[in-house]
Amino acid sequence: MKFFVDTANVDEIRELADAGLLDGVTTNPSLINKAGRDFIETITEICQVVDGPVSAEVAATDYDTMMKEGEKLATIADNVCVKVPLTPAGLKVGKHLVDNGQAINVTLCFSAAQAMLAAKIGATYISPFIGRLDDIGQEGMTLIREIGDIYAAYPEIDTQVLAASIRGPQHVVQAALSGADVVTVPPKVLHQMFNHPLTDKGLEQFVADWQATGQSIL
Ligand code: E4P
Repeated sequence: MKFFVDTANVDEIRELADAGLLDGVTTNPSLINKAGRDFIETITEICQVVDGPVSAEVAATDYDTMMKEGEKLATIADNVCVKVPLTPAGLKVGKHLVDNGQAINVTLCFSAAQAMLAAKIGATYISPFIGRLDDIGQEGMTLIREIGDIYAAYPEIDTQVLAASIRGPQHVVQAALSGADVVTVPPKVLHQMFNHPLTDKGLEQFVADWQATGQSIL
């Protein structure tokens, strides 16, 4: 399973990339707003830090403007993946970009029917939002399984399932068990994935016992 990080904070991305934990990055307008920096400059920098796909989302909602935005974003770097919303105009823009060899990520997916449309235009990634479905009392992980089952039934579908809106380590585990190809994880959750009280307790004991030996490896 591939790990993407869901942030526009370049320092955090650099740290995770240096640790060898990253296969790619996803951003969205809210994350760009949170980062508080110029969008194009930020995406350019992220594309230099990470070799894998970097999702950069169009901001408009009408076809003409989205198309121009998508084409501009595509010129930033070879590893830019243009993110389009799951709307009729968004998919039309996505199809045009795909036909020109551009990787795209179809975002804001909340149903298997929507995911089927994204596959139909040859999207590189479909992003079902697990946490936001959980928030309204639906089982987000069921959607990952449904999409996986549908895509698996049609070998001509190349679209990868990118589990998004991840709220905790259990979401990551469940997404993996549900067959997601990629999971995009907020930095905080990636750090939480390290945590287990028995790891801390065990390490404390090993350190104490090692000190008691009076030895040094170096
Ligand atoms: C995915 O690409 C989105 O950027 C993201 O996962 C949305 O997550 P949220 O529901 O926590 O905003």
